[in-house]
Amino acid sequence: MPPLQNTIVDSDGNAVKLALFKDDDYSNGMQRQPEASLTGKQITVGVGGGIAAFKAAHLISQLRQQGADVQVILTRAGAQFVTPLTFEALSHRRVLQNLFEDEPLNHVHLAHNSDLFVIAPATYDLIGKLANGLADDYLTTTLAATQQPVLLCPAMEQQMYTNPIFVKNLETLRQLNYHVLEAEAGTLASGRSGLGRLPEPEVILSKVQSMFSNGPLTGKRVLVTAGPTRERIDPMRVISNRSSGKMGYAMAQAAQAMGGQVVLITGPTLLDEPSGMTVIQTESVDDMFEQTTSLAAESDLIIMAAAVADWQPKEILEHKEGKAGKDSLMLELVPTKDILFHLGQHRHENQIIVGFAAETQDFVEKAKAKLKKKNADFFVANDVSKAAESDENTAVLIAKDGSEQSFSLMEKSALARQVLESIVKASD
Ligand code: CTP
Repeated sequence: MPPLQNTIVDSDGNAVKLALFKDDDYSNGMQRQPEASLTGKQITVGVGGGIAAFKAAHLISQLRQQGADVQVILTRAGAQFVTPLTFEALSHRRVLQNLFEDEPLNHVHLAHNSDLFVIAPATYDLIGKLANGLADDYLTTTLAATQQPVLLCPAMEQQMYTNPIFVKNLETLRQLNYHVLEAEAGTLASGRSGLGRLPEPEVILSKVQSMFSNGPLTGKRVLVTAGPTRERIDPMRVISNRSSGKMGYAMAQAAQAMGGQVVLITGPTLLDEPSGMTVIQTESVDDMFEQTTSLAAESDLIIMAAAVADWQPKEILEHKEGKAGKDSLMLELVPTKDILFHLGQHRHENQIIVGFAAETQDFVEKAKAKLKKKNADFFVANDVSKAAESDENTAVLIAKDGSEQSFSLMEKSALARQVLESIVKASD
């Protein structure tokens, strides 16, 4: 085969070197690969017995492509769905299945030497065993013996996923610092639609990558709120605002890229759910209050980017009110709960709380007053008359000590990254 050329001739007859690929890649006739992000990592993948076990095959292949060494432990039920041979071919290693057929202390060795355990799919039974300290096979025994991070990727039918026993078990594991990648909504094995689908392998991979990222938020739990809230007037009508959620979503993605373990609590938006993080959909201020306050205590960084409604109807009408016989309509509104104020009152040491102030005038002064009143550490102030629904924004970051940093007009994703970098730097 003739060697590939890495020069072209431009219109003036000059030789121009192509900079797209390295010379060696050309001489080998290879396409340039993106840099492998998991090189040298030992990842043990536990495959439980669920129909989603087939997705584990693709996950293992992707982990290997990213440079990881992958060891598979297959449960007895898992082997009913996918044969060990499939996993052996993909992982290039013997699949571990029976504790008593293996060398006596191999599971202890694995527990110690794996950099990460990924359990996909994590079944109802597996979660139940782990939460209750049962260890009766290769996978559960190895997990019982490890102190390394474990990522659980549950998948099952919706009735099982929402079963209070399962919910309690998963919460127990969360409290014990197990990482959880929530199941997604979609078509389930039964043909029904609901919550319980294993996220696609790409989503699991990006979660794994974020866990190994050595960005400044590695190991930190980040809670972000985004989007508008919706207050019901009657079964059809609502009071809401023009927030698109873009800035909050960009903050969540920036935090994830910096290594944070992110939970995004969002009001109704038209945006796609970002992958690799837990996304909780909410509607009203009361919904958002409940979700946010229940996760606040375990969060290291809280970013309140949501445009939370200030007022809600005193009562929600049971039926849609017609306009016949009326020439005006009075709606009595009462203040909503102030989520950020509550968080500021119940904050714990070392927690960083960031508020957003979207104003149409005097935005820096108003943001400073809000920072103080709500006991936050930072406030991001911007002129909402320019920012709403746009892809670009400017901002002024205000710190507790009154210092200010201005950011010029740029894409919200870049702005989010820069603002977050400043917050992290100032909090060191
Ligand atoms: N916020 C909140 N709960 C509310 C209202 C606001 O958590 N009920 C949060 C927002 O998410 C934002 C910050 O408080 O981070 C400031 O929101 P903003 O609406 O600008 O301020 P308010 O306190 O509502 O004051 P006002 O509407 O009077 O300007």
